[in-house]
Amino acid sequence: MPDSPPPSDNIVIDVRHVEKSFGDGSNRIHVLKRVDFQAQTGEITMLVGPSGCGKTTLLSAIAGTMRVDSGEIRVFGHSLEKMSGPALTRFRAQKIGFIFQQFNLIPTLTVAENVGVPLLIQGLSNGKALKRSRDILEKVGLGDRWKERPNKLSGGQQQRVAIARALVHEPPLVICDEPTAALDAQNGEIVMDLFRQVARSADRSVIIVTHDNRIFSYADRIARMDDGEIVEVKEQDTGGQPHFEHPVHV
Ligand SMILES: Nc1ncnc2c1ncn2[C@@H]1O[C@H](COP(=O)(O)OP(=O)(O)O)[C@@H](O)[C@H]1O
Ligand SMILES: [Mg+2]
Repeated sequence: MPDSPPPSDNIVIDVRHVEKSFGDGSNRIHVLKRVDFQAQTGEITMLVGPSGCGKTTLLSAIAGTMRVDSGEIRVFGHSLEKMSGPALTRFRAQKIGFIFQQFNLIPTLTVAENVGVPLLIQGLSNGKALKRSRDILEKVGLGDRWKERPNKLSGGQQQRVAIARALVHEPPLVICDEPTAALDAQNGEIVMDLFRQVARSADRSVIIVTHDNRIFSYADRIARMDDGEIVEVKEQDTGGQPHFEHPVHV
């Protein structure tokens, strides 16, 4: 890999020479080998690559839910490795909306209560949190399901609840691990249009890990990962209207 470019004002994620291993001795696996990765405001960056190459591990490092062994990760100019645990937790709650591959919904809460969690963490009242949760549920097509428990919903509906929860507090950085895998074309398009609106609003950025070639046309930039390294970064012209069902092979 050539050295990554110097930071510009638009770069909100700047990952430099990051390494991470799991396990000890003969069980040790080197998952992130020497990762350099950037994401900019105004853009949807997609991270693609074969299963097991380290995509989720890299997202966890950027989201600050996992510490790395070496290298530097700057998010909005702050070095994550220099933050204490509590500072990192606060930073994450304010700045990042994370959509996990496994949704991670809380089964004992209603759909609207699940979506409202980030707002309660920020100190909003229950009433205000409920109103904003219902508004965003409306936008993802689940306005009439807000009172139900997540297990009453289909996989695609649960995925949209997880997406609503990641967007409800309007975080400047939205990080998604396979956000459209369980969605049909219509709902995939609704969700991608929402992500696009987020990426196009001031000082915000969206990073999406995906295998879903139905959504590649939405990417402003595609980073390809293989065996613990970013091996290629391609810019795409998304000046026209990207379309969900039209596959673009990269
Ligand atoms: N907490 C962990 N402990 C041990 N191994 C892990 C852990 N997390 C991920 N791995 C391993 O790291 C590799 C990369 O995993 P992951 O980042 O989930 O890949 P991807 O998201 O690209 O499919 C896999 O071999 C996986 O088994
Ligand atoms: Mg993964």
